Amino acid sequence: MATLAPTQQKTYFDFRKAVAENRLKGLWQTMSGYHWLYFGAVLTLMFSSLAKTASLFLLRYFADLVSGNAEAVEGNLGKTFVLIGLAFVGFAALEGGFAFLSGRMAAETAEGITRRMRNFLFDHIQRLSFSYHSKTPTGDLIERVTSDVDALRRFFSEQAIGVGRIVLLFFINWFAILSLNAKLGWVSVISIPPILAVSLWFFKRVTKAYEKYQEQEAALSTTLQENLTGVRVVKAFARQDYEKGKFEKENWGKFLKGKILLFMHSLFWPLSDIVLGLQMLGGFVFAALMVINNEITVGTYLAYVGLVVWLIWPIRNLGRLIVQTSTGMVSYGRLVEIMKQEREDLFGGSVTAQKNIIGEVTFEDVSFQYSDGQTDVLKNISFTVKPGQSVALIGSTGSGKTSLVNLLPRFHEYTGGRILLDGVELKDYPRAMLRQHIGIVEQEPFLFSRSIRENIAYGVGRQVTDEEVESAARAASIHEVIIGFPDGYKTLVGEKGVTLSGGQKQRTTIARTILKNPRILILDDSTSSVDTETEAEIRQALTNLMQNRTTFIIAHRIQSVMNADLIVVLDKGEIIQMGKHADLVQDENGMYRKIYDIQTRVDDELEMELSRVGSGE
Ligand code: UTP
Ligand code: MG
Repeated sequence: MATLAPTQQKTYFDFRKAVAENRLKGLWQTMSGYHWLYFGAVLTLMFSSLAKTASLFLLRYFADLVSGNAEAVEGNLGKTFVLIGLAFVGFAALEGGFAFLSGRMAAETAEGITRRMRNFLFDHIQRLSFSYHSKTPTGDLIERVTSDVDALRRFFSEQAIGVGRIVLLFFINWFAILSLNAKLGWVSVISIPPILAVSLWFFKRVTKAYEKYQEQEAALSTTLQENLTGVRVVKAFARQDYEKGKFEKENWGKFLKGKILLFMHSLFWPLSDIVLGLQMLGGFVFAALMVINNEITVGTYLAYVGLVVWLIWPIRNLGRLIVQTSTGMVSYGRLVEIMKQEREDLFGGSVTAQKNIIGEVTFEDVSFQYSDGQTDVLKNISFTVKPGQSVALIGSTGSGKTSLVNLLPRFHEYTGGRILLDGVELKDYPRAMLRQHIGIVEQEPFLFSRSIRENIAYGVGRQVTDEEVESAARAASIHEVIIGFPDGYKTLVGEKGVTLSGGQKQRTTIARTILKNPRILILDDSTSSVDTETEAEIRQALTNLMQNRTTFIIAHRIQSVMNADLIVVLDKGEIIQMGKHADLVQDENGMYRKIYDIQTRVDDELEMELSRVGSGE
């Protein structure tokens, strides 16, 4: 008995814990494990700023010394100059060194957090339910995992650390100015409260505009992604112009929303720069007057000029930062939306992995409705399949065949009645366990852009030998095709390798399921895209495969279903006929008989046609 998979699971930091209602609080929790590194970045930044301020105080001393307002060290002017020179170099080195360290630590924090987050999101997204995926555009998800995570990375590497830098620079330099002269200290911060107020107001506006911009970008990438995925359809229907128009429209929308953002920026920055420029100029004039009135020395004036530049710089950048921060916040919010989604519970359920699955399946008055649907797509479904028996589902398109079999691995939950597997309700089985024992050949075969061998061995979850892979491929009658490729089983499928035909793809997925060796087998229209000859071959392979397994076959051809132990005819989600082939064909008015008649007639005509061509008529 194979064990369930959790041993293979790698655990990432669970970002769902960091989903606080308050975005700032959530961001703080998101940094979990990196707080010290971030603190280190701020601390080194503080040392760097202190070195800068110290060098300005040195400048003040130097100017006062030259203008005769200060004493030389030990009365020796030459020695003092040398010392001052050395100290300048020393402070510059400290300033640069610490700034470098701080940048490194900030980058480390940002890269670390976002790498962890990307891993988490990837894992999280693939654990979300089928219904979430069927209603969420892939382009939107890609946009979030790439662009929004990147915005968050910038937030941590630049903006979060930037806030620390700005607060530090501001207070260090402000206290330094206050220590030079209290009056100067107060004069130089007059314009700050209004600037702050305007920045905050602006922040709110930009956040909204950026949210819209990001949504538009997601719409654009969804359009692009759909166009690329459906490129065959686009070409086949010659709809390039229509698609082009659609893309242009979304792109235009992005352009407009980007323009609004730019406009807001172009209004704010010049305004704040003018106010701050006036503030600085006013301060210089005020300080100059103080020098003239002998209230301060020339050295103090020079130091003030140097310090005030570093006081205004943070304020100027605070506005910018507040605005940029809004982009980080918006992206964080968009990521939280994904994180909040419920995961599919893979391992919950009272049945333990030790339970042997025999394969008796009972439907008891089952009904089902898609979570986003309006009506029941399955109604009053009741039948039993004995272990090892096969049941065939037949019915017009949209009658609910795929929906019915998708209930078995719990891709969706039935909404009424019960489904029992070996007498135990399906809801009591952990999903992972069901999926391990159920093999599905999907209606639309999907292969990864990997080697054929990898694709066949995909579902096994253990090392397999070449012989095993080959015998599965033989059973699915695809072996001959594969060895016909130059690289055989190592041939890559998809973009970088060979393109398989629909039937080849289908047989590869059959080989994949054969190798998995499941107790319960589901074949959803598995012979739909192959010719009659291959179909017969596959049917033979499937007959071997079906032995001793409970099998659900969905097929359109009577020949594929006539040997089943039970045939269920579905129409609009309801069972309209049920029984064995021999009985069902007897019912002259039944749907089964109608399908049978049409198909035999078509087959006969085809045969006659072929024999006529064959005999050269
Ligand atoms: P099915 O997909 O079960 O039909 O959809 P089917 O019998 O297998 O059809 P073919 O032969 O493959 O073509 C049954 C109904 O469920 C709805 C469909 O619109 C259809 O009416 N449906 C299907 C949903 O509402 N949501 C889905 O995700 C899938
Ligand atoms: Mg179907």
